Amino acid sequence: MKNSITVERNLNTKEGKQVTVEVNISKLDNDFLLGIAHDITEIKESEEQKLKRLHLLKTLYNANQKFSESLNLEKVAYEVTRTCVEDLGASLAWIGHAEANGKVTVLYQYPTEHPYTKNLNVRWDDTPEGQGPTGVAIRTGIPQVIEDITTNQRFEPWRMKAVTEAGFITSAAFPLATRGRTFGALNIYSDKKGFFDAENVQLFQTFAHQAAAALENANLYEKSTRRLQHIQALRKVDMAIAGSIDLRVISNVALQETIRELNVDAAAIFRLNPYMQKLEFIAAYGFYTNIIEEISLSLEKSFAGRAVLERKTIYIPDIERENEDMPKDLFRVEGFKAYYAVPLIAKGHVLGVLEVFMRNPHIVNDEWRDFLETLAGQIAIAMDNAELFHNLQQSNLELLKAYDETIEALSYALDLRDKETEGHSIRVTELTLSIAKEMGIPEEKLIHIKRGALLHDIGKLGIPDSILLKPGKLSDEEWEIMKIHPVYAYKMLSQIEYLRPALDIPYCHHERWDGSGYPRGLKEKEIPLAARIFAIVDVFDALSNDRPYRKAWPIEKVLEYIREQSGKHFDPQIVDVFIHLVEKKFVSRLGD
Ligand code: C2E
Ligand code: SIN
Ligand code: SIN
Ligand code: SIN
Ligand code: FE
Ligand code: FE
Repeated sequence: MKNSITVERNLNTKEGKQVTVEVNISKLDNDFLLGIAHDITEIKESEEQKLKRLHLLKTLYNANQKFSESLNLEKVAYEVTRTCVEDLGASLAWIGHAEANGKVTVLYQYPTEHPYTKNLNVRWDDTPEGQGPTGVAIRTGIPQVIEDITTNQRFEPWRMKAVTEAGFITSAAFPLATRGRTFGALNIYSDKKGFFDAENVQLFQTFAHQAAAALENANLYEKSTRRLQHIQALRKVDMAIAGSIDLRVISNVALQETIRELNVDAAAIFRLNPYMQKLEFIAAYGFYTNIIEEISLSLEKSFAGRAVLERKTIYIPDIERENEDMPKDLFRVEGFKAYYAVPLIAKGHVLGVLEVFMRNPHIVNDEWRDFLETLAGQIAIAMDNAELFHNLQQSNLELLKAYDETIEALSYALDLRDKETEGHSIRVTELTLSIAKEMGIPEEKLIHIKRGALLHDIGKLGIPDSILLKPGKLSDEEWEIMKIHPVYAYKMLSQIEYLRPALDIPYCHHERWDGSGYPRGLKEKEIPLAARIFAIVDVFDALSNDRPYRKAWPIEKVLEYIREQSGKHFDPQIVDVFIHLVEKKFVSRLGD
């Protein structure tokens, strides 16, 4: 028979200390009971400790598993802070990110709605706001534990109200560092006194290491995908620039990419009119109304104008807090809160402004600003290109016009010297162009035909007056000299790049279909088409008018002659087109 039992009891000692005892009670032969009590408090505690440690290790392991599954910064940050509170027993956890400007921003917190972080003003640089646990942890890389917040000097006095309201007793800031770089701190608060014992500090420190690696991975991943998207967006704008010189087309592509990549609500491009000293609307995207299209901004009285005058980005974080007397209708009607104006500068000149509008307050970082400015740089290049092209086109047009006027004047002078009838060159040019069009010669070739026809006898400049203006028939030697005039034309015009495509007529207008012409004796289609057309027109006009060496022929005789020369002097197919056209033009008139 069993003569003893063992029970466990929690007792209070006289000193008020709680102890756990194991009592072994045995029944003695004489019916006495013998009770032996052991103090097992320590054994019990270390067992609990073991269980607790096991639980915590499991928690760390599980959290790490979750971290490695996600490359989403927000998800990782959520998981980090949630674990601190739900699994590791903290009251509040927040991740502070050390910004380049010295500020610490709350990247994430759990519980998400906890009011404590609302008015936090923490820095990590060596300023008064940087002397708190967060700033010190980030600067030194050493965890900062505040055993009792209420008596600690390092918390700004005004924070005490928030601490009291939240019921926090103790807090700690753990540096978040990877590869030797501290980028923030994990801040933990607890309402339990002694929460940060050596073991918990060790635990949270380990946890912060894991969290830092996971945050950094997610951040790198997000950064590189964002970069890739930015590069793709810039590439699209590049392609738009390469594919079009139309500033509006390019601007529309650029604005769409701006809005998508910068996650803003609307954007617009204005061009500086340097003569009027005004900004004129070019393109807009993302607006509810079309007010912006009607806007012309003065340089003095607009934010955009200020960006131009100061040659720097203007940022209005909150339009309602802007006291300056600037036109604000657009902001009111469209519900814009925040605004950026970036000057568009190319080769040192301000060409316009890129405006970006946000309907909600916007937190921007360096990367965002860099990208905004890169886009502005590209738009400026496009604007510069478009302007250059426009100017070039304009001066080209002017130059071409000047050239063509020169050619017409020269042609007129040639007619005079040649004792041609008034307007001979203009007439043959027009008739040649009519036939060329009738025969379907493309538009871009007509300009060269025109110039060639106007200058067809430029080579006669090389023929002495004694021959050119001789009233009678030419001697054999004179004729040999006369036949050089197309070669002179070739020599003169082939020097001039701009007139080289116009050479066919001046050089070949005396070649004949049957090969009996000069200077080279070309045959049939060896003779350029323009020259084959022109030959008919030139003979037609020469015979229809008085020459120094003979009187004009009547038109019937001229047409008769041309028909007769079909297949000999002239291309028979073109003779048909010519006769058809001339009969319509002249013979019907003659019949009147
Ligand atoms: P042009 O006076 O401009 O004549 C151009 C072409 O029209 C001539 O090229 C010729 O094919 C045709 N043509 C002109 N007049 C007559 C004509 O009375 N009868 C015929 N059947 N065809 C005529 P072509 O013959 O190669 O002459 C080239 C240029 O040589 C002429 O240009 C003219 O400047 C000059 N030329 C030709 N014959 C004489 C001439 O007898 N006396 C003088 N002074 N110059 C002549
Ligand atoms: C600090 O770390 O500077 C302040 C943290 C807090 O107010 O909780
Ligand atoms: C973050 O927590 O924002 C990412 C960490 C880093 O800046 O590398
Ligand atoms: C705008 O109207 O486009 C912005 C207003 C301003 O630049 O002042
Ligand atoms: Fe000629
Ligand atoms: Fe002629």
